[in-house]
Amino acid sequence: MTQLTATQDAELTGSATPAPRIIAIVNQKGGVGKTTTAVNLATGLAASGVATLVIDLDPQGNASTGLGIDRNSRKVNSYHVMLGGADIRTAIQKTLVPKLDIIPASVDLSGAEVELVADSHREHRLNQVLKPANLPYQFIFIDCPPSLGLLTLNALVAAHAVLVPLQCEFYALEGLSHLIRTIERVKRSLNPSLEIQGVVLTMYDRRNNLSDQVATDVRNYFGAKVYDTMIPRSVRVSESPSFGKPVMLYDFQSAGAQAYVYLASEVLKREGRMVP
Ligand SMILES: Nc1ncnc2c1ncn2[C@@H]1O[C@H](COP(=O)(O)OP(=O)(O)OP(=O)(O)O)[C@@H](O)[C@H]1O
Ligand SMILES: [Mg+2]
Repeated sequence: MTQLTATQDAELTGSATPAPRIIAIVNQKGGVGKTTTAVNLATGLAASGVATLVIDLDPQGNASTGLGIDRNSRKVNSYHVMLGGADIRTAIQKTLVPKLDIIPASVDLSGAEVELVADSHREHRLNQVLKPANLPYQFIFIDCPPSLGLLTLNALVAAHAVLVPLQCEFYALEGLSHLIRTIERVKRSLNPSLEIQGVVLTMYDRRNNLSDQVATDVRNYFGAKVYDTMIPRSVRVSESPSFGKPVMLYDFQSAGAQAYVYLASEVLKREGRMVP
């Protein structure tokens, strides 16, 4: 029997649409697959019929580029939502993927951390605009920059949970205690219900013994938090952003695309939502 999604259930019973589940994709290490995971996991969920939003909170704007949003069409973006008083709905753009929308980022955001320092609500800005808006999505993913600065703190305060991508390489666990301490600190003082939703191993190379060793170490450390699906290192995954497409649209048959399809179904299962 196919279980109803929360939205279908709400439609049938006439109850209000449930609030979106907000997941921040965080790792202060650069280049570990945060953006790739944000773009492709969100696409996997949208392809399953689940309305999904990506918020690009990285001044590099890679998620926006990877989802085909031209730099010239980011006039209202995450910076204006957080700091410019723009209505969050005016910043939302459709992507090539049905049911997947994005709030893009631009370089404007690079000054945000400095501007926020003097603000007494500096860690709460995103939360203050996101939660009351009750946007009509089942999932919202926030793609964070490679730091634990104020932008990432805003994501951690606004989110229900954190998804941590870890690259299968020697230094994967380095810096992790700092990340976990930060999550604990946010939990204690700013967002008590914050939790680690999961850990996803990225750029796994089965020909490389080190990848297996790292995967084993990460599983020993995080236990069941680690998703079974490991994202393989795949040229198709790395090529797709230059075409402004998620890998599922670029080459659906590729191992990378398939891995993100599996990851999306694992995420839905873990979140207690079935594929419609
Ligand atoms: N599974 C993969 N196979 C091959 N290349 C990958 C894979 N995942 C990510 N990459 C490539 O690795 C690089 C870093 O990935 P990505 O941009 O997703 O990391 P990030 O953590 O978001 O980086 P940053 O910290 O700079 O925001 C990119 O060039 C991306 O295309
Ligand atoms: Mg990134």
